[in-house]
Amino acid sequence: MKGVILAGGLGTRLFPLTKITNKHLLPVYDRPMIYYPIQTLVNAGVDDIMIVTGGRKSGDFLSLLGNGKDFGLKHLNYTYQEGEGGIAEALGLAEHWAAGAPLCVMLGDNLIERNIRQAVSDFKSQGHGAKILLKKVPDPQRFGVAHIEGDKVVEIVEKPKEPKSDNAVIGIYLYDERVWNIIHELEPSDRGELEITDVNNWYIRDGSMTFEVLEGWWTDAGTFESLHAASKLVAEGGANHLD
Ligand code: G1P
Repeated sequence: MKGVILAGGLGTRLFPLTKITNKHLLPVYDRPMIYYPIQTLVNAGVDDIMIVTGGRKSGDFLSLLGNGKDFGLKHLNYTYQEGEGGIAEALGLAEHWAAGAPLCVMLGDNLIERNIRQAVSDFKSQGHGAKILLKKVPDPQRFGVAHIEGDKVVEIVEKPKEPKSDNAVIGIYLYDERVWNIIHELEPSDRGELEITDVNNWYIRDGSMTFEVLEGWWTDAGTFESLHAASKLVAEGGANHLD
């Protein structure tokens, strides 16, 4: 299992904080945002990690993280996304490196309280397809929203105006090696980006998508409100990252 952390983009929802730096280098309580997804993957036993960065001050990731010694790693891999082609395009940049391994992909602005070790292990047993993690939220229109029937996800709608459920799709995705061909076939969405939700809907149509409900808190940190909430959640304790 390899891990990919997506840490590109211009972070425009956080202007002017992101005017001169990358969103994932901003502080969340007592450390830079990017520390949290790295620690989440390492805690889950995923220690072969690529960071896809882009936008401003991408060289600072190297100065900050080096070879990952702060996380007990011997090596970290980096690549660079030019432009704003979307989450799925950013993931596509890891194809040559992943070399057919199953993947745990995490958005660099997502923070969770607990461990995803069990979900990773369940996905390994599943053997193929994909797995997403869901969390009930009060504001589903901000996220990809999963529509569930019985024990199956039947559709994910990206930022629906009228959400059919309150199940947000969190930014942690497990994929088999078919993800690369799926990305090659994607068409840009109305906002001109390759959407991770389109990748997930491909696996749903294929019948090979499973889901689990995340235990503990989850937040993104890409808006002023959520960045503030993330700092508060970490400061108030309970985050396994702070060990
Ligand atoms: C992205 C995904 C969305 C997901 C969210 C989780 O949205 O497109 O499906 O629910 O991350 O943080 P973004 O925050 O990039 O707009």
